[in-house]
Amino acid sequence: MQVRNGLSAHLSSIVSASSPAPSGVLPGGAGVTPEQLYDLVQNLPLIAAWAAGAALVLLVVAVTLRLSAPRVYWFTLGWLLLAARMRLTWRRLALNADISAIDRPVAGLFDDPRAARSRAAVPLIPVLWQIRPRAFGVTASIGMHSGQTPEAFIKAAEAMAHAWGVHAVRITPGRRGSVDLTVLRNDPLTGTGAHEDRDALAEAGRAPVAADLLAEIGRREDGQTWVIDLSTFPHWLITGATQSGKSTLINAAVAQWATRPIALVGIDCKGGMELAPHASRLSALACDRTEAADVLTGLLDEAQDRMRLCREHRVRNIWQLPDAVRPVPIVVIVDELAELYLIADRSEKEVTQRATANLLRLGQLGAALGIHLIVAGQRVGSDLGSGVTALRAQLAGRICLRVNDDETALMTFGDLHPDAVDAVQAISPHDQGVAITTADVGGWIRARSTYQDPADLDAAVAETAPLTPRLPRLDH
Ligand SMILES: Nc1ncnc2c1ncn2[C@@H]1O[C@H](COP(=O)(O)OP(=O)(O)O)[C@@H](O)[C@H]1O
Ligand SMILES: [Mg+2]
Repeated sequence: MQVRNGLSAHLSSIVSASSPAPSGVLPGGAGVTPEQLYDLVQNLPLIAAWAAGAALVLLVVAVTLRLSAPRVYWFTLGWLLLAARMRLTWRRLALNADISAIDRPVAGLFDDPRAARSRAAVPLIPVLWQIRPRAFGVTASIGMHSGQTPEAFIKAAEAMAHAWGVHAVRITPGRRGSVDLTVLRNDPLTGTGAHEDRDALAEAGRAPVAADLLAEIGRREDGQTWVIDLSTFPHWLITGATQSGKSTLINAAVAQWATRPIALVGIDCKGGMELAPHASRLSALACDRTEAADVLTGLLDEAQDRMRLCREHRVRNIWQLPDAVRPVPIVVIVDELAELYLIADRSEKEVTQRATANLLRLGQLGAALGIHLIVAGQRVGSDLGSGVTALRAQLAGRICLRVNDDETALMTFGDLHPDAVDAVQAISPHDQGVAITTADVGGWIRARSTYQDPADLDAAVAETAPLTPRLPRLDH
């Protein structure tokens, strides 16, 4: 009781000292008596317990939601937490990752230059705004200060990904004076991320964007992610001996393209076995030479339709078309190229010629029309005919896994990067999935594909099967 009276007296002195205003001026503060304040203080543990309980319930709900309905969690709470983290770290990040500008004091016409010099230089933090939730993460914009260019932000992308604990941050120059941020929260290749992303990206009906063409297929020896980006190199040549990892590599890419508005077409003249795991997600699958010729003819018709569409809209490629009319990109996967070129008997000559001529034509026309070739084979030597060399010239993206003969390495890299041929020959049979690949820096680099369990792949394909776009030109 003694303590209580002492405390009341103390509190009343605080209240009278801190609220000298008459009750008309501060209606809220004026009515609080020392007793009420004392009650409040006494109830604090109870209030704290309530708050802790509520927080715990919220946490349990959040965790359950995250596990059972990741998409709902993401759109209700997940993205808000990420946005908060982005905002909280933004200032420090901007200062540390060299993306802040500096406001140097300059003397105006009527200023005293000495006064200007005495003012300190202040860092100007670029403005982070328009953080919006997306299925794959968030998008945002950054307003730049004068003197800044998008390059500095592109360099800082990795630092941003680390600071925000996300898989990757992509920066693209936006409107003049700003850059656009695309924050991808998960790595589509590992753990639950693949599942969530598939969930998320399965927004059927979404207009395709150029970024959909990028597939992450492994790691490079410089630590960077190994990507096949069809908007950089529209067509790819993948060579390697049997069991060197060609199919694994293609699977890694297909598993990602399958989640997006992209049509996949398979040509596998060895009976369709190699591409069979993807069958339910393929818009067409050719299993022999005659079917291949038909599918390639259909694709060429499709290419001509698209050319007409671009002409009508006066644009030079499908990406410049309005969202509403833009056709889906088509990725044509040819496994074992040699099967398409080798003629067993004369009766197949016409079919073979039609197939290979159409393939070459697609290579020449396809890039701007969103038709891309991924051509894989053990051998791509000139012994298959002169058409192969012409086709190879169109396939600017190159990947060479372990080879048994020097000629294949030479055919894959000899024309572009002769020094890469030695590197290919140094790949040992134990290095399954290791390859030499075209790279942005230095021309070529060693890399290794991500191995995906066949069961996981089957599950992934089954899940994306409903997204398979129909290509009327390929229906028979
Ligand atoms: N990146 C990789 N990491 C680990 N193992 C791999 C990798 N790539 C391929 N392999 C192994 O090599 C085997 C053959 O690969 P595959 O892609 O079928 O070769 P190819 O299509 O060239 O004949 C696979 O079954 C797998 O065990
Ligand atoms: Mg294979």
